[in-house]
Amino acid sequence: MKIGILTGGGDCPALNAVIRAAVKTSIGYGWDVLGIEEGFNGLVHCKCRILTTASVSGILHLGGTILGTTNAANPFCYPTVGEGGKTFECDISDTVVSNFRKLGLEALIVIGGDGTLTIAEKFYNKGIPLVGVPKTIDNDLNGTIVTFGFDTAVNTARDALDKLHTTAESHRRVLVVEVMGRNTGWIALQSGIAGGADVILIPEIPYKPEKIAHSIMVRERMGKHFSIVVVAEGAFPVGGKPTHAETRHAGRERRLGGIGERVASTVTELTGKETRVVILGHLQRGGPPTTFDRVLGTRFGAAAARLIKKGAFGRMVALIPPDVESVPIREAIGRLKTVPTDNDIIQSAREIGISFGD
Ligand code: F6P
Repeated sequence: MKIGILTGGGDCPALNAVIRAAVKTSIGYGWDVLGIEEGFNGLVHCKCRILTTASVSGILHLGGTILGTTNAANPFCYPTVGEGGKTFECDISDTVVSNFRKLGLEALIVIGGDGTLTIAEKFYNKGIPLVGVPKTIDNDLNGTIVTFGFDTAVNTARDALDKLHTTAESHRRVLVVEVMGRNTGWIALQSGIAGGADVILIPEIPYKPEKIAHSIMVRERMGKHFSIVVVAEGAFPVGGKPTHAETRHAGRERRLGGIGERVASTVTELTGKETRVVILGHLQRGGPPTTFDRVLGTRFGAAAARLIKKGAFGRMVALIPPDVESVPIREAIGRLKTVPTDNDIIQSAREIGISFGD
């Protein structure tokens, strides 16, 4: 048997842990493994290399992906430069299917988030036998309790909050920390609670500027002359819309960004307090994965190879505690897994005095 493995979408801590486990397990079954480079782009241009036990040795603790990745090469709407240099989107998915066969592949492991797994589902429907592995720091995929990479991103954000506390307090400032998460507030919520934030703004709970100001001024009156506001990049005010960093480019999703500045200037305007903004950005995607993510990545990688062995195609490995099981890819995609606003985490956060700006 000859299988392929690819990583698509934004990179994420523990991608290498998944690749390593999938390759080692597959080789243990006696299979050949082809590493497809740069996501589905590798199948568009037949860019790949044989992966051996030696190729995946020493990568468990490394961030990024040894295979490379992209979030701007969807073969169903592939960015193509036409006459006059104008970029338009073109469906070249048939090329991918024929290259898959030309390479002699019999199955594919696709490691990706919502975007990549949506593409994978379409290729599954076009006849490619594949399985999915849920990757994203955003934790916004359905079907699994958690995606790998999320824990590391939360730890990075929490570590930043620990550091920002002392400078905020020393200068009696409000520090607004913008974290990633796309249109969900998982990273903001978890890092905010663990990092002792005073205000947490998430897309699931649209905020009112005057409520943020109120929480900061209540602290001021209690003698707490600094505050930490964690804002998810997809957060927005009641009646408003998320803030984007750019207009849409062909073949890729429009990037979020800028809400931190927006919140900071509102806070200054309403409270008169000096504010500073820290955008954690891609720091959250890098670095060595946490123990949790290394273990989860290893379990996911090995389980993906097992799914192929069983012929359970069109399915995604998923953590459904205590076990790693599998769900149809179609159940994981299309609809974001958002933070439930009526659960005990939000309730507990509110009970200890954290404001959600509502
Ligand atoms: O999905 C992961 C993620 O890091 C999001 O949190 C963020 O909105 C986006 O990717 C950033 O994408 P890019 O790497 O294209 O800037």
